Amino acid sequence: MLEKDIQEVLITEEEIRAKVKELGATLTEDYKDKYPLAIGILKGAIPFMGDLMKEIDAYLEIDFMDVSSYGNATVSSGEVKIVKDLNTNVEGRDILIIEDIIDSGKTLKYLVDLFKYRQANSIQIVTLLDKPTGRKVDLKADYVGFDVPDAFVVGYGLDYAEKYRNLPYIGVLKKEIYSF
Ligand code: PRP
Ligand code: MN
Ligand code: MG
Repeated sequence: MLEKDIQEVLITEEEIRAKVKELGATLTEDYKDKYPLAIGILKGAIPFMGDLMKEIDAYLEIDFMDVSSYGNATVSSGEVKIVKDLNTNVEGRDILIIEDIIDSGKTLKYLVDLFKYRQANSIQIVTLLDKPTGRKVDLKADYVGFDVPDAFVVGYGLDYAEKYRNLPYIGVLKKEIYSF
């Protein structure tokens, strides 16, 4: 069904699973003496966060923020909106932001600045995907799963017009789906 809209599989389920285990092991080591607050950025981070948190053996808490900048377009509007804020006070906390993809970097730049302003003790970013060619602001993740090329990728949380998030792999969307 969904597969007919995919031009090419970029990262398979198995490759994602192996990478999530690897990142989980690294994060377990890095956070072993801490009480991290993992913050998932809705909605894209949901599948990655769900899988990754199970691989982190630390006293971890979770919370969510819903920030949106794309709407139904394929290009970021550049304007970041808070749709849902945290329930947790981040002051003094060691924060691990979990994202599905960094493109322009504007979403995360906004969030890092916000958590700094709210006096978090430390802020680190783990992202499954990084699209370095899309960068508009100076922003680097601390942990990156895969670099992706300048293509419109969907699946494993990433959407086009809110669809395809439930694909179990990362694929490139056929051009005819989004250019008309
Ligand atoms: C997407 C993606 C990242 C952000 C990356 O989220 O999930 O959060 O854009 O783009 P940027 O680096 O250019 O800011 P989106 O705003 O589409 O919301 P969603 O996660 O609900 O799809
Ligand atoms: Mn997102
Ligand atoms: Mg989106």
